[in-house]
Amino acid sequence: HGTSKINSKGHLEIGGNDVTDLKAKFGTPLYIVDEDLVRLRCREYVAAFRESGLTFQVAYASKAFCTMAMCRLADEEGLSLDVVSDGELYTALQAGFPAHRIHFHGNNKTVEEIEMAIDAKIGCFVVDNFIELHLLNAIAAEKGQRVNVLLRVTPGVEAHTHEYISTGQTDSKFGFDIGNGSAFEAVRVASDLASLELLGVHSHIGSQIFEVEGFQMAVERVAQFAIRVRNELNVAFKVVNLGGGFGIRYVEGDTPLLVSQYVKAITDAVKTHFAGLGDILPEIWVEPGRSIVGDAGTTLYTVGTSKDIPGVRKYVAVDGGMTDNPRPALYDSKYEAMLANRANEENIETVSIAGKCCESGDMLIWDLELPKVISGDLLAVACTGAYNYAMASNYNRIRRPSVVFVKDGQADVVVQRESFDNIVGNDVIPERMKKVA
Ligand code: LLP
Repeated sequence: HGTSKINSKGHLEIGGNDVTDLKAKFGTPLYIVDEDLVRLRCREYVAAFRESGLTFQVAYASKAFCTMAMCRLADEEGLSLDVVSDGELYTALQAGFPAHRIHFHGNNKTVEEIEMAIDAKIGCFVVDNFIELHLLNAIAAEKGQRVNVLLRVTPGVEAHTHEYISTGQTDSKFGFDIGNGSAFEAVRVASDLASLELLGVHSHIGSQIFEVEGFQMAVERVAQFAIRVRNELNVAFKVVNLGGGFGIRYVEGDTPLLVSQYVKAITDAVKTHFAGLGDILPEIWVEPGRSIVGDAGTTLYTVGTSKDIPGVRKYVAVDGGMTDNPRPALYDSKYEAMLANRANEENIETVSIAGKCCESGDMLIWDLELPKVISGDLLAVACTGAYNYAMASNYNRIRRPSVVFVKDGQADVVVQRESFDNIVGNDVIPERMKKVA
């Protein structure tokens, strides 16, 4: 998919770059991002919203993959940006991302984070709880500023990827519950706080969701809430943010919808359920992360050792693993992979791909069919653009790989491979433990 193909040498090629050349130039493990595919996904969102006729913002959920180059790309594509920490905010600001299109999330923003974001004049805070409402108001007042606010509400729709449970009261650490009156109270409080400008509400029901029913149900609940708030508190929501969570295809059997289909389902539901408000519809914001960058990412590994246990299993180890992709170990996530330097060969065997960490759970893929693998082969794991680099660690003091953006035969490093100095750079040996010569 995207710009990926098998070239005449039987090598995987992405963005016009033969992966054997990428390995020679940048080494492995290597995160490769198909820049055109990321841009295509951004444009699919924007086009689908334009089609709907609604006023909108598409905010890229930077938690999925946050680097300065990605912030530049999101800005170039006209997207807004969702950040959840001072680190993501700092990255966006360093990249020159326009502050007024940054939205700040999180269920426990610190005083320092709030101050940093107000000073930067970000576009909006998504407020999660009563303590934060008062804290934000107080800090804004002290700075003589008025800040835009969305209230994060839990609409009582829980998405378990394939099924939706409609709960009376959602058991979640996030947001104000619509069902138990806490969201209503939050609107009352927020509209009374002088340094807050209440724009509306935000709802996010989960991630890697394939069906539209959960989103439609959330839109319906939020619309009913908006109508009640208008009637009883005389407060009108200018903005309704419906979060992210749109699924992508990792392996055969995953059945996501197209971006355009997700957006149409949501915007149609908005038109239906908000009609009760009579006047103009609110601005609709969404926050896709995974569906912007997920399928554009490929991780390239070099095969090292293997262990064949006759009649049981053959393990093939690569030069990365749970440090660059913790998702299989964390969530039992499934991935597909191919032999990237001998893609057309046919003597298939079944192998399981192990990482190099000192931990039995460090397995990337179980029971994968590949042409007979030997040391030095290249393995390409697909769909690693979201929550891979973003969740990478230095476990076992392994250095994080570099990330390259590929496009039209060009390959640009957007994150350098970590150095040994990065590994020990923050270490301090107390004076009394220093080795004497
Ligand atoms: N908005 C909010 C408020 C969120 O909490 C999230 C994701 C998103 C947007 C973006 O959701 P997306 O479109 O990417 O599904 N580490 C997990 C995923 C955690 C998602 C957390 N929140 C994984 O690797 O699957």
